[in-house]
Amino acid sequence: MPLVNSVEMFKKAYAGGYAIGAFNVNNMEIVQGITEAAKELNSAVILQVSAGARKYANPVYLRKMVEAAVEVTQLPLVLHLDHGADFDICKSCIDSGFTSVMIDGSHHDYEDNVALTKKVVEYAHQFNVTVEGELGQLAGIEDDVNVSAEDASYTNPAQVQDFVERTGVDSLAIAIGTSHGAYKFKPGQKPQLRFDILEEVGKRLPEFPIVLHGASSVMPEYVAMINKYGGQMPDAIGIPEDMLRQAAKMAVCKINVDSDIRLAMTASVRRHLAENPSHFDPRQYLTPARNAVHEIVAHKIKTVLGSEGSAL
Ligand code: G3H
Ligand code: 13P
Ligand code: ZN
Repeated sequence: MPLVNSVEMFKKAYAGGYAIGAFNVNNMEIVQGITEAAKELNSAVILQVSAGARKYANPVYLRKMVEAAVEVTQLPLVLHLDHGADFDICKSCIDSGFTSVMIDGSHHDYEDNVALTKKVVEYAHQFNVTVEGELGQLAGIEDDVNVSAEDASYTNPAQVQDFVERTGVDSLAIAIGTSHGAYKFKPGQKPQLRFDILEEVGKRLPEFPIVLHGASSVMPEYVAMINKYGGQMPDAIGIPEDMLRQAAKMAVCKINVDSDIRLAMTASVRRHLAENPSHFDPRQYLTPARNAVHEIVAHKIKTVLGSEGSAL
């Protein structure tokens, strides 16, 4: 079974009213935890690599680890570039065997975003690689992107049809109030998403896969565990699971999760080392970390995504 692109996955997800989880991978334990959970539940899954992950782990290691996961699990896996900033990084990933790329032109003005996205699509489609574009801007901080809440902007549904037609993208990330990182809403603020925008986008793009970035739920139990074992995280608020489930039943076919994996791993490593202060073998604390990834991904597949059995 080779790596696959996202076309068939999204078709089935759209028709079935569920979404595919797209999880960020940075090391072997993360790749293993995600794919073990997907295997257990027979779920399709997307493994995505950010520019920060490429810097941290070296793209060759990441690609080879994902290829190893395909061999071990025999699952249809997509290897996707997350937040490609320019044509060159997309081309480099396409040339090295990625089956899907995101070109994130959302910080450019509309016409420049169209031109850049179209250029990536024209290159990618020659190699059967699928392309995700973005319209509208999420708030939040990643390694290479830092967008303040004031600069974030919701997607304008009036633009989506023109954007998709002119660029030829295979899926579209939209901004409806999610944001990157663990601090998505101000303390005391009630989480809200603009389902009206999602609905309007769905009407204008029938049967077209929509992507939700910044979709971690930031479970309070992980933050509490991190703080119980020496961490100092301020209270953090994520996207409620029922909202994500609702989005997955609508046009959203891909839900991006990174922060929840980071929190689950860090909580389990902190607990392990606090409870076993004499341990110094990395395998001793990375085993619970990998198990924590497995557990959170299995939870997402069952409760949030609804993608259990989708790999059949
Ligand atoms: O949306 C971005 C992901 O959370 C990746 O974060 O750039 O720190 O690897 P990163
Ligand atoms: P979170 O920070 O909410 O996990 O979002 C991850 C993401 O959108 C990756 O592209
Ligand atoms: Zn993102």
